[in-house]
Amino acid sequence: MSAATPCTGNCTSSTSRSPTPIDALAAAADDGDDFDSPQPARSRFAWCLTGSGHYLEESLALAARLPQLDLFLSRAAEEVLAIYKLPFESLRERFPPGLRIVRDKSASAVPVGMLYTDVYHTVVIAPATSNTVAKCAWGISDTLPTNMLAQAGKLGIPGIVFACDTEPVVVTKAPHDWVTLRPRRIELDNVERLRAIDHCQVVASPAELEAALAGRLQALALAWNTSSS
Ligand SMILES: Cc1cc2nc3c(=O)[nH]c(=O)nc-3n(C[C@H](O)[C@H](O)[C@H](O)COP(=O)(O)O)c2cc1C
Repeated sequence: MSAATPCTGNCTSSTSRSPTPIDALAAAADDGDDFDSPQPARSRFAWCLTGSGHYLEESLALAARLPQLDLFLSRAAEEVLAIYKLPFESLRERFPPGLRIVRDKSASAVPVGMLYTDVYHTVVIAPATSNTVAKCAWGISDTLPTNMLAQAGKLGIPGIVFACDTEPVVVTKAPHDWVTLRPRRIELDNVERLRAIDHCQVVASPAELEAALAGRLQALALAWNTSSS
């Protein structure tokens, strides 16, 4: 995907300007978020949520401790957040002011163009569903999170993926109960395959995710948020 496709053929001039990545972000933004104000270069985390209930709470708790963060949601993430009774309004209450939310409203993941404006220093997918892990591992990008990771990789922006199905037995919190799952060989193999993808660090527990984020903060001379929202 390219944010600005040059006119090489039968282009005709027009008085209306072409949509920019900022326009697309504004269109995909949750109500009221400011995507017009210029942001300092490499100043923000892009945190992608997928439709995983497993480690959702733990992932959100870590995200809320990071400075300067935007959330990018897959369509499944929106549904799963609602099922776990975490609508956008309650999400905002968990985060410091300045949180921006981008929804997956386009087939071509138009908001990914924001990566080209050099605003994001890190792309995180946490928690990552087996579906998203499989797509990322095999180079498929057809959702907002999978496109974010793919484009970040092509730009050399570090990515961190919290793959949840990494053990032979996973005990996960379903909306109403705890459930024991046994990831299949294909899920485990996809996690291993993802580990070999360029610019992508795979983590397999909240502790590993926290350590990876701490490493990014240190590399960027940034610190965890100390105040709670
Ligand atoms: C309540 C609920 C919880 C879910 N939790 C998980 C999960 O923990 N891990 C997983 O791989 N899929 C989970 N799923 C299924 C994914 O949401 C589904 O595979 C979806 O297509 C993933 O899309 P995405 O990867 O684009 O976000 C869950 C679905 C529901 C309804």
